[in-house]
Amino acid sequence: MPVITCIEDLKRLYRRRAPRMFYDYAESGSWTEQTFRENVTDFAEIRLRQRIAVDMTGRSTAGQMVGQDVAMPVALAPVGLTGMQNADGEIKAARAAEKFGVPFTLSTMSICSIEDVADHVTKPFWFQIYTLNDDDFNRKIIDRAKAAGCSALVITVDLQILGQRHKDLKNGLSAPPKFTIPTMLNLATKWAWGLEMLQTKRRFFGNIVGHVEGVSDPSSLSAWTAEKFDHALNWDKIRKLMDMWGGKVILKGVMEAEDAQKAAEIGADAIVVSNHGGRQLDGALSSIRMVPEIAAAVGDKTEVWMDGGIRSGQDVLKAVALGAKGVMIGRAFVYGLGAMGEAGVTKALEVIHKELDTSMALCGETRLGNVGKHNVLMPKDFLDRYL
Ligand SMILES: Cc1cc2nc3c(=O)[nH]c(=O)nc-3n(C[C@H](O)[C@H](O)[C@H](O)COP(=O)(O)O)c2cc1C
Repeated sequence: MPVITCIEDLKRLYRRRAPRMFYDYAESGSWTEQTFRENVTDFAEIRLRQRIAVDMTGRSTAGQMVGQDVAMPVALAPVGLTGMQNADGEIKAARAAEKFGVPFTLSTMSICSIEDVADHVTKPFWFQIYTLNDDDFNRKIIDRAKAAGCSALVITVDLQILGQRHKDLKNGLSAPPKFTIPTMLNLATKWAWGLEMLQTKRRFFGNIVGHVEGVSDPSSLSAWTAEKFDHALNWDKIRKLMDMWGGKVILKGVMEAEDAQKAAEIGADAIVVSNHGGRQLDGALSSIRMVPEIAAAVGDKTEVWMDGGIRSGQDVLKAVALGAKGVMIGRAFVYGLGAMGEAGVTKALEVIHKELDTSMALCGETRLGNVGKHNVLMPKDFLDRYL
């Protein structure tokens, strides 16, 4: 067993173990990937201020996200095709999150179905819905999430149309993979992945195949999704989905203060400042750069979280210092899952937690609630470089 000390170690292992098609699917952004890269590099521009002789005993990273107790305010983001990174991936990630005491969000585009994940955990998880132009599907999937006991609905609002990721087109991404010669040659080097995958029946989009008429195989599925994203989405439709759900709602994919205010106005319990991990609008600013402005605009009308580029506990601390009450992690947990299954997701959470706890202490803080701008240093123009 290799010694894992940071998220980058998990990523290296993941790259060795997962088929290239699925590694590339996660490790990419849209078009030039500028936003994907800057989500990460902008965190590096922010520095932490070290304090000394502050009693650090009895400190805690615990908090709440939409009223739910969490060991640290770090939720697992919805990630499509997680069950292709590692067999039964959603179930493994949900179990790791539950044991660690952080929320897990199941994507609409997951391999394991809502019911299947619910059968393998003991506490409620969150469900993410895409805004589709099919009221019947929306109603049914929301009812299924309710029946499975999901405790919050994450509505993703930044994907009315899909950003192009070049590598997915070049690799012919599909679930399960199609048996082309390049794919077969690559799969031949990923035998551990293949052996596990052969032992599971979960190889299709579990929330959709078998639940939607006319969608019984992967090729009809990709046509179905492309056609179903709601190009005509508006605030009324978002409100309608919120009403259908009737419980805690998190709006994910907000990048402007005006939109954040509107989300608060219609009653979102939390918003996620997010550019979908740089997978949608290439050229958008990094999420972390937008956090201070959005947090200031919204005040305490709703919880402001962020995602995009978090690869360490220091990044979580910086996000909190700039005004986020919580964060979501996507790739950081996928690297762990692809590297070592459930144990890898646990490792990713342990790494981030340790880094967060230690960095918070060295900054002279014992509670995340007290962390703020006084804990960081930024280039003078960090917040207004782009006007
Ligand atoms: C491989 C992959 C698949 C994703 N699938 C979804 C999805 O199905 N639904 C969704 O709302 N967001 C999805 N996202 C976006 C994540 O929820 C999250 O916003 C993003 O990963 C955060 O950036 P990070 O990966 O740098 O942490 C996906 C991201 C990745 C990397």
